[in-house]
Amino acid sequence: MIRPFLQVVQLYKKFGDITALNNVSLAIYPGEILVILGENGSGKSTLAKILYGLYFPDKGYIKINGTPVIFSSPAEAKSKGIFLVSQRPQLIDDMSILENIALFLSTSPSRGLRKKLSEILNYLGMAIDVDKSVHALSYTEKQLVDLVKVLLAQPKLLIVDEAVTYLPRELKHKFLNIVKGFATRGGSVMYITHKVVEAAEIGDRFAVLRRGSVVGVFEKGVDVSTLRQAMFGSEEYLTAITKSPVQRPLHKTPALSVENLVVFDEYGKPAVNDVSLSVRLGDVVAILGIAGNGQKELGEAIVGLRKVAKGKVLLNGDEITHMPASERVRRGLIYVPEDPFREGVAIGLTVAENMKLFSQSRVSKEILETAIRKLEVSPSNPLISVAKLSGGNIQKVSLSRLLLNTPRVVIAYSPTRMLDEKSRVLILRTLQKLAESGSAVLLLSEDIEEAVYISTRIGVIVNGKIVKFFEGPELESYREDIEKVMVHA
Ligand SMILES: Nc1ncnc2c1ncn2[C@@H]1O[C@H](COP(=O)(O)OP(=O)(O)OP(=O)(O)O)[C@@H](O)[C@H]1O
Ligand SMILES: [Mg+2]
Repeated sequence: MIRPFLQVVQLYKKFGDITALNNVSLAIYPGEILVILGENGSGKSTLAKILYGLYFPDKGYIKINGTPVIFSSPAEAKSKGIFLVSQRPQLIDDMSILENIALFLSTSPSRGLRKKLSEILNYLGMAIDVDKSVHALSYTEKQLVDLVKVLLAQPKLLIVDEAVTYLPRELKHKFLNIVKGFATRGGSVMYITHKVVEAAEIGDRFAVLRRGSVVGVFEKGVDVSTLRQAMFGSEEYLTAITKSPVQRPLHKTPALSVENLVVFDEYGKPAVNDVSLSVRLGDVVAILGIAGNGQKELGEAIVGLRKVAKGKVLLNGDEITHMPASERVRRGLIYVPEDPFREGVAIGLTVAENMKLFSQSRVSKEILETAIRKLEVSPSNPLISVAKLSGGNIQKVSLSRLLLNTPRVVIAYSPTRMLDEKSRVLILRTLQKLAESGSAVLLLSEDIEEAVYISTRIGVIVNGKIVKFFEGPELESYREDIEKVMVHA
């Protein structure tokens, strides 16, 4: 019989009153992909962090090839071949891609490494310059670089925590192929994801965590409905949203318009190249694009975090192209940034302090509690530091700015990236409701599915240009066309 590469034996981990892991026992075999599923806050990242030596369990232990081990640092985990690609990319912003990888591998940024790295990025179809500073990359690009970095370290157990969420099918396919190839050659993979359908495609076995306990282990071939039932107790949440609703724009004049916008990246190259679009009150317009094609720069230019080189941005008919970001916020523009950890929240502050920071007016206890309840932030204690929340719950705190003010225009960038299916529906429904009650919503995303769910119009951005708009009540039926334009144009 094959011996597991790694076993976790009766792990317990508490944080104050919260039991993050409750008597978790699992085995991971060589050559298999074990998927870990569970709703936001169910203990997935805590498990990953214990295996990687970042957290110490309260009780229980780990066995590697049958031998009990206790890790007190990632260095020890790495020395046993255990590597983690975390939910939050672990890269040094001020260094280039190549320098980051060299540092991680404790080697020099040699020509050999440069070649290897370029090859793997080329295979993935990512034309990123390896000398580019990490600072200039989008969240998804950072995740990819992080994954490549860890693969180059030749792990025995690769733990992927929510790191490949929103790649377009083709790129994701290639990526998953790399991961599968790694498993075929005898490597073990622990693949943490919220995407039940994707999980079912890639996994050899499935362990479902619920409130820190393993509530089921399933074999390949299990249907997604069973997995959803185990994760959430029911599948009812799926019906909470109507797909592609026909929404009548309420006003003729756009609330937000962008005219012939040109925005440069850090290197002086046009990242946004002659983009025009408009969003009316009541509209949800999505701009879809693969990471690195300009939607990051477009969003930042609209909200005033990046300089506009040419063209105009208008809010409610007034030109705001060169206005300070704070003035745009005062005029009713609300921005939900892409990276909740770095830009979305002040990680050292409490949930309540963050919400007060986001709000334009005084936040009463009632408003605060209502936002927490509506977004189902867990734990629901407003006095807890945001650093103590799970990834998905941190994103929810970042999203709470949608409910604290009455936004005229919302710019939301990948607002559901870290959310489980149920919370994702909740947020998409929230954006839909905002539009229904008269806000204009611009969704910047890499996720076709969420765009076709709630948008009235979808533009696809490639190399800084919007190459095509899709419109109409049946956007769902354009899914494949949209993907083709995103990938091939
Ligand atoms: N450092 C910490 N201090 C206090 N509580 C923590 C800490 N890390 C995690 N927790 C709590 O432990 C529970 C499990 O969190 P964990 O991050 O493991 O969830 P998760 O399943 O990865 O969720 P998500 O899908 O949102 O990433 C949560 O209630 C979280 O608030
Ligand atoms: Mg997590």
